Amino acid sequence: MSATAPQSFHPPAPPRSEKPLGKIEFIRRVWKNQITTWTQKSFEESVYRIDGLMGKATVAHDTALVKHVLVDNFANYPKDRVQRKVLKPGLGDGLLTAEGEVWKMERRVIAPLFRPKLVDDFMPAIIESSRWLVDRWRAAGADSPVDISAEMSRVTLEVLQRSIFQAGLKRDTGELAGAMSRYFEAVGQLHPFDVIGLPDWLPRFGKPDVSRELRFFNEAIRDIMSERRAAIASGDAGDARDLLSLLLTTRDPQTGELLNDTLVRDNVLTFIAAGHETTSGSLTWAMFLLSQFPDWRREVEEEVDTALDAGAIAIGAKAEDPFAGFAAPGVFDKLVKTRATLEEAMRLYPPGALLLRQAIADDACGEYKLRAGELVVIAPWVLHRHKLLWDRPDEFVPRRFMPGEREKVDRFSYLPFGAGPRVCVGSGFAMREAITILAAIARTFRCDLKAGYPVEPVLRITLRPGGGLPMRLTPRSG
Ligand code: HEM
Repeated sequence: MSATAPQSFHPPAPPRSEKPLGKIEFIRRVWKNQITTWTQKSFEESVYRIDGLMGKATVAHDTALVKHVLVDNFANYPKDRVQRKVLKPGLGDGLLTAEGEVWKMERRVIAPLFRPKLVDDFMPAIIESSRWLVDRWRAAGADSPVDISAEMSRVTLEVLQRSIFQAGLKRDTGELAGAMSRYFEAVGQLHPFDVIGLPDWLPRFGKPDVSRELRFFNEAIRDIMSERRAAIASGDAGDARDLLSLLLTTRDPQTGELLNDTLVRDNVLTFIAAGHETTSGSLTWAMFLLSQFPDWRREVEEEVDTALDAGAIAIGAKAEDPFAGFAAPGVFDKLVKTRATLEEAMRLYPPGALLLRQAIADDACGEYKLRAGELVVIAPWVLHRHKLLWDRPDEFVPRRFMPGEREKVDRFSYLPFGAGPRVCVGSGFAMREAITILAAIARTFRCDLKAGYPVEPVLRITLRPGGGLPMRLTPRSG
């Protein structure tokens, strides 16, 4: 696709089968790329039942039913067996994987750590990481091709490291990034035996072993955690206000208890796992879409230049620092096109493309009956492109997220961060981070897709371009 793509260009998506898939074909597609399992019917019907390899399921893309499952009667719909099985060995009882009383207690402790005031405190980490990225690109030389998907992974990991461990993780960032991506690649590839519920003692042939990666994470986190606990106990933790210190010192407002070491470790890894590939995926797709819509990209660049220049003047900052304006009050309220680009990118390519729940008891929502034990499948990948919910569902239309239009989007037709009590706890942090990084890039570089490169979305826990996203970088002179 050339840089002057016509406005009718449809961002890439796998072809949809008109007919239901046979069992073998379904397993093959789950293993290769889970989003290729959706048939045309899914994008046209609101609710339907299936009786497949994972048992009976209701596919729910009616907004009233989505609200019922995720909000109104959420206690009846915990996360499903397969999801817990895949994530629990790594993330233990972290907030993403815990259920019941443990989850409630963790949510009470952790949600306040992401309130807007504390997200503001992480701005220096986000700006410095953005600077680190563009400095690396400058050093690499003009017109050098880079894999934007890998670059976004690096920069978002950098942000997380600086936010969770202010004093560094004492491990090589490249080693951590490599371990993370191997871990995700392995857990994200759903093994057919897990899909059909075969017992754990049966070997999962073909599935990479990630025990070495898990050992690496555990040791790295254990070392830094015990050091920090000791520093806090001796009053020597300085002014560390990072997420690790907050996790170690914040008490449950109901019981006054602190999280134990195991839960602190589980949540550190959860923040990295839940906050890394998701944010980098949304940025990667936003960069891809900007490269395909040069007129819109120009508007975004103008918006960023104007907002950051005005911000720098307002705070009397040095003109030569392109990012100084980020520190000005109200600058993020002006980056509405940058935000709309990310929101539209997450509509077309939701990083969390599948939300799965399992009903505990029989239940009903209007005409829909749900039975105990059945799966409820809510797929943002489908919901966000559903014919009954969206105008021009498969096209890039960022203006639908501009002020004045954004308010018309039904809350339950757009779920990049989920909804209800289990809504993403890091959404405010993620949006601030992604807007800053996208604006920092738009301010300094123009990125164009390698000519003729076939872009294909692949779902492995998060949705990424399969094979990466090679782009040519051109420094902007402004
Ligand atoms: C663009 C970036 C992000 C996206 C698209 C995203 C998406 C989501 C979604 C869809 C859920 C709900 C899953 C479900 O209901 O089954 C979720 C939950 C969660 N996210 Fe995010 N997330 C992002 C960034 C982050 C960040 C930066 C963090 C932390 C640093 C984070 C931490 C969590 C946690 C801990 C949960 C579990 C909450 C709970 O169950 O109480 N996420 N996220």
